[in-house]
Amino acid sequence: MDHFHYSGGVLHAEDVPLPVIADQVGTPVYVYSRATLTRHARVFRDALSILPAARIAFAVKSNPNLAVLKVLAAEGYGADVVSVGELERALAAGMDPEAIVFSGVGKTAAEMTRALQAGCGQFNLESEEEGLELAEIARSLGKTASCALRVNPDVDAGTHGKISTGKAENKFGVPYDRAAAIYARLAQTEGLAMRGLALHIGSQLSKLDPLEAAFTKVGGLMKDIRAAGHAVTHMDLGGGVGVPYKAGDVFPQPEDYAAMVARVTADWDVTLMFEPGRVITGNTGVLVTRVVRVKEGVGNPWVVVDAAMNDLARPALYDAWHDFAAVEPSGETMTANIVGPICESSDTFAMAREIDAVQRGDLAVFRTAGAYGATMANTYNSRPLVPEVMVDGAKWAVVADRIDPATILAAERVPDFLA
Ligand code: LLP
Repeated sequence: MDHFHYSGGVLHAEDVPLPVIADQVGTPVYVYSRATLTRHARVFRDALSILPAARIAFAVKSNPNLAVLKVLAAEGYGADVVSVGELERALAAGMDPEAIVFSGVGKTAAEMTRALQAGCGQFNLESEEEGLELAEIARSLGKTASCALRVNPDVDAGTHGKISTGKAENKFGVPYDRAAAIYARLAQTEGLAMRGLALHIGSQLSKLDPLEAAFTKVGGLMKDIRAAGHAVTHMDLGGGVGVPYKAGDVFPQPEDYAAMVARVTADWDVTLMFEPGRVITGNTGVLVTRVVRVKEGVGNPWVVVDAAMNDLARPALYDAWHDFAAVEPSGETMTANIVGPICESSDTFAMAREIDAVQRGDLAVFRTAGAYGATMANTYNSRPLVPEVMVDGAKWAVVADRIDPATILAAERVPDFLA
Protein backbone atom coordinates (compact mmCIF):
# COMPACT_ATOMS: atom_id res chain seq x y z
CA MET A 1 0.00 0.00 0.00
CA ASP A 2 1.24 3.48 -0.80
CA HIS A 3 0.06 7.08 -0.53
CA PHE A 4 0.09 7.92 -4.25
CA HIS A 5 -3.56 8.21 -5.25
CA TYR A 6 -5.87 9.99 -7.68
CA SER A 7 -8.00 12.77 -6.34
CA GLY A 8 -10.16 14.83 -8.70
CA GLY A 9 -8.56 12.99 -11.62
CA VAL A 10 -5.04 14.10 -10.64
CA LEU A 11 -2.34 11.86 -9.16
CA HIS A 12 -1.28 13.08 -5.72
CA ALA A 13 1.55 12.18 -3.39
CA GLU A 14 -0.30 12.27 -0.07
CA ASP A 15 -2.09 15.66 -0.22
CA VAL A 16 0.10 17.23 -2.88
CA PRO A 17 -0.92 17.16 -6.57
CA LEU A 18 2.09 16.02 -8.60
CA PRO A 19 1.65 18.84 -11.17
CA VAL A 20 2.43 21.34 -8.40
CA ILE A 21 5.81 19.71 -7.80
CA ALA A 22 6.50 19.26 -11.51
CA ASP A 23 5.75 22.93 -12.21
CA GLN A 24 7.96 24.22 -9.41
CA VAL A 25 10.86 21.78 -9.54
CA GLY A 26 10.71 20.67 -13.17
CA THR A 27 10.93 17.13 -14.50
CA PRO A 28 12.18 14.48 -14.24
CA VAL A 29 11.96 14.42 -10.45
CA TYR A 30 11.70 11.66 -7.86
CA VAL A 31 8.90 12.18 -5.36
CA TYR A 32 8.87 10.25 -2.07
CA SER A 33 5.97 9.87 0.33
CA ARG A 34 7.03 10.09 3.95
CA ALA A 35 3.82 8.33 5.09
CA THR A 36 4.55 5.40 2.78
CA LEU A 37 8.13 5.16 3.99
CA THR A 38 7.07 5.21 7.63
CA ARG A 39 4.36 2.67 6.97
CA HIS A 40 6.72 0.23 5.26
CA ALA A 41 9.32 0.65 7.99
CA ARG A 42 6.71 -0.12 10.65
CA VAL A 43 5.09 -3.04 8.85
CA PHE A 44 8.47 -4.74 8.42
CA ARG A 45 9.57 -3.98 11.98
CA ASP A 46 6.26 -5.11 13.46
CA ALA A 47 6.36 -8.34 11.44
CA LEU A 48 9.81 -9.13 12.88
CA SER A 49 8.61 -8.44 16.41
CA ILE A 50 7.57 -12.12 16.67
CA LEU A 51 11.31 -12.92 16.86
CA PRO A 52 12.96 -12.88 20.28
CA ALA A 53 15.79 -10.54 19.22
CA ALA A 54 15.88 -8.75 15.88
CA ARG A 55 17.80 -5.72 14.67
CA ILE A 56 17.20 -4.01 11.37
CA ALA A 57 19.96 -2.34 9.38
CA PHE A 58 18.42 -0.55 6.38
CA ALA A 59 20.36 -1.20 3.16
CA VAL A 60 21.37 2.39 2.48
CA LYS A 61 22.28 1.60 -1.12
CA SER A 62 18.59 1.26 -2.00
CA ASN A 63 17.90 4.89 -1.13
CA PRO A 64 20.65 6.91 0.57
CA ASN A 65 18.83 10.25 0.59
CA LEU A 66 19.48 11.99 3.90
CA ALA A 67 15.80 12.76 4.51
CA VAL A 68 14.92 9.10 3.92
CA LEU A 69 17.62 8.00 6.38
CA LYS A 70 16.34 10.53 8.95
CA VAL A 71 12.85 9.03 8.79
CA LEU A 72 14.23 5.51 9.21
CA ALA A 73 16.55 6.52 12.06
CA ALA A 74 13.49 7.90 13.87
CA GLU A 75 11.82 4.49 13.37
CA GLY A 76 14.72 2.81 15.17
CA TYR A 77 16.49 1.52 12.08
CA GLY A 78 20.24 1.10 11.87
CA ALA A 79 22.09 0.97 8.57
CA ASP A 80 23.81 -1.50 6.31
CA VAL A 81 26.52 0.45 4.48
CA VAL A 82 28.99 -0.54 1.79
CA SER A 83 31.26 2.49 1.55
CA VAL A 84 32.51 5.37 3.65
CA GLY A 85 30.14 7.58 1.69
CA GLU A 86 27.18 5.56 2.95
CA LEU A 87 28.67 5.39 6.45
CA GLU A 88 28.92 9.19 6.63
CA ARG A 89 25.30 9.50 5.47
CA ALA A 90 24.09 7.10 8.15
CA LEU A 91 26.01 9.03 10.79
CA ALA A 92 24.74 12.36 9.43
CA ALA A 93 21.19 11.02 9.75
CA GLY A 94 21.84 10.37 13.44
CA MET A 95 22.02 6.60 13.29
CA ASP A 96 23.74 4.94 16.23
CA PRO A 97 27.21 3.76 15.06
CA GLU A 98 26.64 0.57 17.04
CA ALA A 99 23.64 -0.12 14.76
CA ILE A 100 25.69 0.25 11.58
CA VAL A 101 26.85 -2.83 9.69
CA PHE A 102 29.69 -2.40 7.21
CA SER A 103 29.19 -4.78 4.27
CA GLY A 104 30.87 -4.76 0.88
CA VAL A 105 33.32 -6.91 -0.99
CA GLY A 106 36.11 -4.35 -1.37
CA LYS A 107 36.43 -2.35 1.83
CA THR A 108 39.66 -0.34 1.60
CA ALA A 109 42.08 0.21 4.47
CA ALA A 110 41.00 3.86 4.63
CA GLU A 111 37.34 2.82 4.85
CA MET A 112 37.97 0.24 7.57
CA THR A 113 39.99 2.80 9.53
CA ARG A 114 37.23 5.39 9.36
CA ALA A 115 34.56 2.83 10.28
CA LEU A 116 36.56 1.66 13.30
CA GLN A 117 37.08 5.23 14.43
CA ALA A 118 33.36 5.92 14.07
CA GLY A 119 32.53 2.92 16.27
CA CYS A 120 30.81 0.86 13.57
CA GLY A 121 28.94 -2.02 15.26
CA GLN A 122 29.69 -4.88 12.88
CA PHE A 123 31.93 -5.61 9.92
CA ASN A 124 30.63 -8.27 7.57
CA LEU A 125 33.86 -9.86 6.40
CA GLU A 126 33.89 -11.05 2.81
CA SER A 127 37.14 -13.02 3.09
CA GLU A 128 39.86 -14.19 5.43
CA GLU A 129 42.22 -11.73 3.76
CA GLU A 130 39.93 -8.84 4.62
CA GLY A 131 39.61 -10.07 8.21
CA LEU A 132 43.37 -10.18 8.68
CA GLU A 133 43.76 -6.69 7.25
CA LEU A 134 40.98 -5.32 9.46
CA ALA A 135 42.59 -6.98 12.51
CA GLU A 136 45.88 -5.26 11.78
CA ILE A 137 44.21 -1.86 11.48
CA ALA A 138 42.15 -2.46 14.64
CA ARG A 139 45.28 -3.38 16.62
CA SER A 140 47.08 -0.28 15.41
CA LEU A 141 44.16 1.83 16.66
CA GLY A 142 43.93 -0.08 19.95
CA LYS A 143 40.43 -1.28 19.02
CA THR A 144 38.60 -4.55 18.51
CA ALA A 145 36.35 -4.98 15.46
CA SER A 146 33.08 -6.86 15.94
CA CYS A 147 32.68 -9.10 12.93
CA ALA A 148 30.45 -11.53 11.12
CA LEU A 149 31.78 -13.77 8.38
CA ARG A 150 29.78 -13.61 5.16
CA VAL A 151 29.13 -17.06 3.84
CA ASN A 152 28.25 -17.87 0.26
CA PRO A 153 25.67 -20.63 0.69
CA ASP A 154 25.60 -21.58 -3.01
CA VAL A 155 21.83 -21.25 -3.30
CA ASP A 156 20.08 -20.00 -6.41
CA ALA A 157 17.97 -16.99 -5.45
CA GLY A 158 15.85 -17.33 -8.59
CA THR A 159 16.21 -13.64 -9.44
CA HIS A 160 17.86 -11.70 -12.29
CA GLY A 161 21.46 -12.87 -12.76
CA LYS A 162 22.88 -9.39 -12.19
CA ILE A 163 21.38 -9.14 -8.71
CA SER A 164 21.99 -12.71 -7.62
CA THR A 165 24.76 -12.95 -5.01
CA GLY A 166 24.57 -16.33 -3.29
CA LYS A 167 25.78 -18.80 -5.91
CA ALA A 168 29.29 -20.23 -5.66
CA GLU A 169 30.28 -18.44 -8.87
CA ASN A 170 29.34 -15.02 -7.41
CA LYS A 171 32.11 -12.90 -5.86
CA PHE A 172 30.46 -12.61 -2.45
CA GLY A 173 31.41 -14.21 0.85
CA VAL A 174 33.57 -17.23 1.58
CA PRO A 175 32.80 -20.67 0.19
CA TYR A 176 30.41 -22.61 2.40
CA ASP A 177 32.72 -25.57 2.93
CA ARG A 178 35.68 -23.41 3.98
CA ALA A 179 33.72 -21.09 6.26
CA ALA A 180 34.10 -23.02 9.54
CA ALA A 181 37.89 -23.20 9.24
CA ILE A 182 38.15 -19.51 8.32
CA TYR A 183 35.88 -18.57 11.22
CA ALA A 184 38.06 -20.56 13.62
CA ARG A 185 41.23 -18.83 12.45
CA LEU A 186 39.68 -15.34 12.56
CA ALA A 187 38.23 -16.05 16.02
CA GLN A 188 41.79 -16.50 17.26
CA THR A 189 43.03 -13.30 15.62
CA GLU A 190 43.78 -10.45 17.98
CA GLY A 191 41.89 -7.28 17.00
CA LEU A 192 38.77 -9.15 15.91
CA ALA A 193 35.75 -10.28 17.91
CA MET A 194 33.97 -12.83 15.72
CA ARG A 195 30.33 -12.84 16.68
CA GLY A 196 28.49 -14.51 13.86
CA LEU A 197 27.74 -15.28 10.24
CA ALA A 198 26.14 -13.18 7.51
CA LEU A 199 24.54 -13.99 4.18
CA HIS A 200 22.67 -12.25 1.39
CA ILE A 201 21.75 -14.31 -1.64
CA GLY A 202 20.27 -11.69 -3.90
CA SER A 203 17.71 -8.98 -4.41
CA GLN A 204 14.10 -8.77 -5.64
CA LEU A 205 13.33 -12.33 -4.54
CA SER A 206 9.79 -13.31 -5.43
CA LYS A 207 9.74 -16.47 -3.31
CA LEU A 208 10.80 -17.34 0.22
CA ASP A 209 12.07 -20.87 -0.59
CA PRO A 210 15.61 -19.87 -1.63
CA LEU A 211 15.93 -17.73 1.51
CA GLU A 212 14.71 -20.61 3.66
CA ALA A 213 17.18 -23.00 2.00
CA ALA A 214 20.05 -20.56 2.56
CA PHE A 215 19.12 -19.83 6.19
CA THR A 216 18.82 -23.55 6.92
CA LYS A 217 22.21 -24.23 5.38
CA VAL A 218 23.95 -21.43 7.25
CA GLY A 219 22.16 -22.44 10.48
CA GLY A 220 23.85 -25.84 10.15
CA LEU A 221 27.18 -24.15 9.73
CA MET A 222 26.52 -22.06 12.85
CA LYS A 223 26.01 -25.27 14.82
CA ASP A 224 29.27 -26.76 13.49
CA ILE A 225 31.16 -23.60 14.47
CA ARG A 226 29.68 -23.69 17.97
CA ALA A 227 30.52 -27.38 18.28
CA ALA A 228 34.13 -26.44 17.54
CA GLY A 229 34.04 -24.21 20.60
CA HIS A 230 33.47 -20.77 19.08
CA ALA A 231 30.81 -18.27 20.08
CA VAL A 232 28.09 -17.30 17.62
CA THR A 233 25.80 -14.64 19.06
CA HIS A 234 24.63 -12.83 15.93
CA MET A 235 23.30 -14.06 12.60
CA ASP A 236 22.81 -11.52 9.81
CA LEU A 237 20.21 -12.77 7.32
CA GLY A 238 20.69 -9.96 4.80
CA GLY A 239 17.95 -8.44 2.65
CA GLY A 240 16.43 -9.48 -0.64
CA VAL A 241 12.66 -9.58 -0.10
CA GLY A 242 11.14 -8.43 -3.38
CA VAL A 243 8.25 -6.11 -4.15
CA PRO A 244 5.61 -6.26 -6.90
CA TYR A 245 6.46 -3.85 -9.72
CA LYS A 246 3.50 -4.84 -11.86
CA ALA A 247 -0.03 -4.15 -10.65
CA GLY A 248 -1.50 -7.53 -9.75
CA ASP A 249 1.76 -9.35 -9.00
CA VAL A 250 1.73 -11.14 -5.66
CA PHE A 251 4.80 -11.24 -3.44
CA PRO A 252 5.53 -12.67 0.01
CA GLN A 253 4.43 -10.30 2.76
CA PRO A 254 6.70 -9.26 5.65
CA GLU A 255 4.66 -11.44 8.04
CA ASP A 256 5.20 -14.50 5.79
CA TYR A 257 8.92 -13.76 5.79
CA ALA A 258 8.99 -13.31 9.57
CA ALA A 259 7.06 -16.57 10.11
CA MET A 260 9.53 -18.46 7.93
CA VAL A 261 12.49 -16.92 9.79
CA ALA A 262 10.90 -17.76 13.15
CA ARG A 263 10.44 -21.37 12.08
CA VAL A 264 13.97 -21.83 10.73
CA THR A 265 15.74 -20.04 13.57
CA ALA A 266 13.62 -21.31 16.50
CA ASP A 267 16.56 -23.01 18.25
CA TRP A 268 19.36 -20.65 17.18
CA ASP A 269 19.52 -18.53 20.35
CA VAL A 270 21.09 -15.51 18.63
CA THR A 271 20.38 -11.89 17.86
CA LEU A 272 19.06 -11.88 14.30
CA MET A 273 20.01 -9.05 12.00
CA PHE A 274 18.29 -7.98 8.79
CA GLU A 275 19.34 -5.73 5.91
CA PRO A 276 16.19 -4.86 3.97
CA GLY A 277 16.35 -2.24 1.25
CA ARG A 278 13.78 -2.46 -1.52
CA VAL A 279 10.94 -3.75 0.66
CA ILE A 280 11.23 -0.56 2.73
CA THR A 281 11.80 2.05 0.01
CA GLY A 282 10.50 0.59 -3.28
CA ASN A 283 6.91 1.80 -3.03
CA THR A 284 7.95 5.01 -1.34
CA GLY A 285 8.76 6.82 -4.55
CA VAL A 286 7.69 7.59 -8.09
CA LEU A 287 9.68 9.17 -10.89
CA VAL A 288 7.67 12.02 -12.39
CA THR A 289 8.36 12.67 -16.04
CA ARG A 290 6.90 14.77 -18.85
CA VAL A 291 6.15 13.51 -22.33
CA VAL A 292 8.46 15.34 -24.76
CA ARG A 293 6.56 14.10 -27.80
CA VAL A 294 4.88 11.09 -29.28
CA LYS A 295 6.65 9.91 -32.41
CA GLU A 296 5.06 7.63 -35.00
CA GLY A 297 6.91 4.36 -35.64
CA VAL A 298 6.64 1.44 -38.02
CA GLY A 299 4.87 -0.39 -35.24
CA ASN A 300 3.70 1.14 -32.01
CA PRO A 301 4.15 4.86 -31.41
CA TRP A 302 7.20 5.93 -29.38
CA VAL A 303 6.34 7.90 -26.28
CA VAL A 304 9.51 9.94 -25.69
CA VAL A 305 9.65 11.10 -22.08
CA ASP A 306 12.12 13.49 -20.43
CA ALA A 307 13.36 10.83 -17.98
CA ALA A 308 16.00 8.47 -19.27
CA MET A 309 18.13 5.50 -18.33
CA ASN A 310 20.51 7.87 -16.52
CA ASP A 311 17.66 8.80 -14.15
CA LEU A 312 16.16 5.31 -13.74
CA ALA A 313 18.63 2.64 -14.81
CA ARG A 314 16.72 -0.48 -13.76
CA PRO A 315 14.91 -1.22 -17.05
CA ALA A 316 18.13 -0.84 -19.05
CA LEU A 317 20.23 -2.87 -16.60
CA TYR A 318 17.88 -5.61 -15.44
CA ASP A 319 15.02 -5.53 -17.98
CA ALA A 320 13.01 -4.29 -15.02
CA TRP A 321 9.34 -3.38 -15.27
CA HIS A 322 8.02 -0.14 -13.74
CA ASP A 323 4.32 0.59 -14.09
CA PHE A 324 3.71 3.78 -16.08
CA ALA A 325 0.68 5.96 -15.36
CA ALA A 326 -0.54 9.36 -16.54
CA VAL A 327 -0.80 11.98 -13.81
CA GLU A 328 -4.10 13.20 -15.29
CA PRO A 329 -5.45 10.19 -17.20
CA SER A 330 -8.14 10.80 -19.81
CA GLY A 331 -9.55 7.30 -19.48
CA GLU A 332 -8.27 6.39 -22.96
CA THR A 333 -5.45 3.90 -23.42
CA MET A 334 -2.83 3.31 -26.11
CA THR A 335 -0.24 0.67 -26.92
CA ALA A 336 3.18 2.28 -27.11
CA ASN A 337 6.90 1.99 -26.58
CA ILE A 338 8.19 4.27 -23.82
CA VAL A 339 11.70 5.61 -24.27
CA GLY A 340 13.99 8.33 -22.99
CA PRO A 341 16.04 10.80 -25.02
CA ILE A 342 19.44 9.10 -24.56
CA CYS A 343 21.30 8.03 -27.67
CA GLU A 344 21.25 4.28 -27.27
CA SER A 345 18.55 1.68 -27.61
CA SER A 346 18.96 0.50 -24.03
CA ASP A 347 17.22 3.74 -23.05
CA THR A 348 13.89 1.94 -23.23
CA PHE A 349 11.40 1.77 -20.37
CA ALA A 350 8.78 -0.41 -22.04
CA MET A 351 7.93 -1.96 -25.41
CA ALA A 352 4.43 -2.59 -26.73
CA ARG A 353 2.90 -1.67 -23.38
CA GLU A 354 -0.76 -0.85 -22.91
CA ILE A 355 -0.69 2.50 -21.09
CA ASP A 356 -2.83 5.53 -20.31
CA ALA A 357 -3.06 7.54 -23.52
CA VAL A 358 -0.59 10.43 -23.31
CA GLN A 359 0.46 13.26 -25.57
CA ARG A 360 3.09 15.96 -25.75
CA GLY A 361 3.39 17.88 -22.47
CA ASP A 362 1.52 15.37 -20.33
CA LEU A 363 2.92 14.33 -16.96
CA ALA A 364 3.32 10.67 -16.08
CA VAL A 365 5.02 8.56 -13.44
CA PHE A 366 7.10 5.44 -13.27
CA ARG A 367 5.92 3.75 -10.12
CA THR A 368 7.82 1.82 -7.45
CA ALA A 369 10.92 3.91 -8.09
CA GLY A 370 11.91 4.59 -4.48
CA ALA A 371 14.55 1.84 -4.36
CA TYR A 372 17.59 1.80 -6.64
CA GLY A 373 16.22 4.82 -8.50
CA ALA A 374 17.83 8.19 -7.76
CA THR A 375 20.78 6.47 -6.12
CA MET A 376 21.80 4.87 -9.42
CA ALA A 377 21.31 8.05 -11.45
CA ASN A 378 24.19 9.56 -13.38
CA THR A 379 24.75 12.37 -15.86
CA TYR A 380 25.24 10.40 -19.10
CA ASN A 381 24.65 12.50 -22.22
CA SER A 382 25.48 15.54 -20.02
CA ARG A 383 22.06 15.45 -18.50
CA PRO A 384 21.40 16.98 -15.06
CA LEU A 385 21.50 14.79 -11.97
CA VAL A 386 17.83 14.15 -11.14
CA PRO A 387 16.40 15.93 -8.04
CA GLU A 388 14.39 14.38 -5.21
CA VAL A 389 11.37 15.69 -3.31
CA MET A 390 9.77 14.42 -0.11
CA VAL A 391 6.08 14.95 0.62
CA ASP A 392 4.62 14.88 4.12
CA GLY A 393 0.86 15.40 4.13
CA ALA A 394 0.30 18.77 2.47
CA LYS A 395 3.94 19.80 2.94
CA TRP A 396 6.74 19.07 0.51
CA ALA A 397 10.40 19.94 0.10
CA VAL A 398 13.24 19.38 -2.33
CA VAL A 399 15.51 16.90 -0.51
CA ALA A 400 18.15 16.70 -3.25
CA ASP A 401 18.81 19.45 -5.76
CA ARG A 402 18.96 19.00 -9.47
CA ILE A 403 22.68 19.26 -10.28
CA ASP A 404 22.84 20.99 -13.61
CA PRO A 405 25.38 20.36 -16.38
CA ALA A 406 27.00 23.77 -15.79
CA THR A 407 27.91 22.75 -12.21
CA ILE A 408 29.38 19.51 -13.46
CA LEU A 409 31.27 21.32 -16.23
CA ALA A 410 32.67 23.74 -13.66
CA ALA A 411 34.34 20.79 -11.87
CA GLU A 412 36.29 19.90 -15.03
CA ARG A 413 39.65 21.38 -16.01
CA VAL A 414 41.51 21.85 -19.26
CA PRO A 415 45.14 20.99 -18.39
CA ASP A 416 48.02 23.35 -19.15
CA PHE A 417 49.35 21.00 -21.82
CA LEU A 418 46.21 21.61 -23.89
CA ALA A 419 46.19 25.38 -23.42
N1 LLP B 1 22.50 -6.57 2.03
C1 LLP B 1 23.45 -6.72 1.10
C2 LLP B 1 24.75 -7.26 1.49
C3 LLP B 1 23.19 -6.35 -0.24
O1 LLP B 1 24.14 -6.50 -1.16
C4 LLP B 1 21.92 -5.82 -0.58
C5 LLP B 1 21.62 -5.42 -1.96
C6 LLP B 1 20.96 -5.67 0.43
C7 LLP B 1 21.28 -6.09 1.72
C8 LLP B 1 19.59 -5.13 0.18
O2 LLP B 1 18.86 -5.92 -0.69
P1 LLP B 1 17.31 -5.64 -0.95
O3 LLP B 1 16.58 -5.87 0.34
O4 LLP B 1 17.17 -4.22 -1.39
O5 LLP B 1 16.95 -6.58 -2.01
N2 LLP B 1 20.37 -2.27 -8.17
C9 LLP B 1 19.60 -3.50 -8.12
C10 LLP B 1 19.62 -4.12 -6.74
C11 LLP B 1 21.00 -4.39 -6.20
C12 LLP B 1 21.00 -4.98 -4.81
C13 LLP B 1 22.37 -5.00 -4.24
N3 LLP B 1 22.47 -5.51 -2.91
C14 LLP B 1 18.18 -3.23 -8.59
O6 LLP B 1 17.86 -2.10 -8.96
O7 LLP B 1 17.37 -4.15 -8.65
